[in-house]
Amino acid sequence: MQIPLINVHDHACAAQAALSPAAWAYFSGGAADELTLRRNDAAWEQWGLRPRVLQDLRAGHTRCQMLGKSWPMPLLVAPMAYQRWAHPDGESGMALAAAAQSCGFVLSHQTSTPLQDVAAWVAAEAMRGPLWFQLYWQARRDDLCALVQAAESAGYEALVLTVDAPVQGVRDRERRHDLTLPAGVRAVHGARASHEPVPGLCSGVLHRAPTWPDVHWLRQQTRLPILLKGITHSDDARQALDAGVAGIVVSNHGGRVLDTVPATAELLPEIAKLVRNDYPQATLLVDGGIRRGTDLFKALAMGAHAALIGRPAIYGLAHGGARGVAQVLRQLRDEFEMALALCGCPTPDAAHSGYLQKLSPLR
Ligand SMILES: Cc1cc2nc3c(=O)[nH]c(=O)nc-3n(C[C@H](O)[C@H](O)[C@H](O)COP(=O)(O)O)c2cc1C
Repeated sequence: MQIPLINVHDHACAAQAALSPAAWAYFSGGAADELTLRRNDAAWEQWGLRPRVLQDLRAGHTRCQMLGKSWPMPLLVAPMAYQRWAHPDGESGMALAAAAQSCGFVLSHQTSTPLQDVAAWVAAEAMRGPLWFQLYWQARRDDLCALVQAAESAGYEALVLTVDAPVQGVRDRERRHDLTLPAGVRAVHGARASHEPVPGLCSGVLHRAPTWPDVHWLRQQTRLPILLKGITHSDDARQALDAGVAGIVVSNHGGRVLDTVPATAELLPEIAKLVRNDYPQATLLVDGGIRRGTDLFKALAMGAHAALIGRPAIYGLAHGGARGVAQVLRQLRDEFEMALALCGCPTPDAAHSGYLQKLSPLR
């Protein structure tokens, strides 16, 4: 008998059954002891919801603002590498499902499908969400410029520069497996900055890592807005927005890079206070551990304009291709709409901290 897949946990079980042990370790795992990975999920549970009753919700909707434009849903699929390893539908199927569910899609620099092909599938979809391209810094600026121009020409609407992973995290779970990519799956636009071993931290990899002046330089190379992904400190949030980026993503890379970083649900309130007070034009996003529509509602109530999901979308892809992703997104959308309705909150931008209560641990 087929077990119905009605929530993200069910999709995770189906994905584990569909993937090889190595692929499961790669797609679901985190860094070191996976403390941040587990905390990301658990931290949303530490907030309770305080609904308001008898509200007039007849004008309610899920539209939201990101980068100065209105979009149907405050939910995006986060950039994730090598999606054709999870399922042959890969990045095209993921983007198509996101567009069909009116959610946004961020294509990873380490995509296993050319960026032009993915954009061609979805750019013309009338009800889609934002279509953005994520960048890792490259050793050669010419390579980076060429990629930026390709993303611009293909129709991507913003660049997301990931800044929290100048080196890869210590991934114990992955190291127990042979992570050789299957034949035909590779990062078609190159991976992270390659380097010759030189003295210094991490065999010289950091000689190629970006710094704040590089962010200024990147801004000069493109007409697209730039978001920095991987901000966990409010001083960095301020520095990023002072440097003129259009937005930031509060993210610890889903607990895959530096273990023991606090959960994003713990970091968001402080950063949101700064951004909403001092940079009202900036777009604020968050990811990490969002598994329920109520988690998305809590993120908005803390001050984010929208949130991204990573693993839940990969789980849908792994067991069901584009159809599986669409199921996951549809379920989260439904849960989110119910959270709005049941909290008595008509729209995403009406969510605020008054709907939240920090819970004390039960004994
Ligand atoms: C398998 C996998 C691959 C990822 N690849 C990238 C990547 O290429 N670029 C990037 O910026 N983040 C990458 N991330 C991090 C996600 O963009 C996102 O920050 C994280 O998955 C959010 O947490 P969640 O999985 O708990 O929703 C990856 C995450 C996963 C699970």
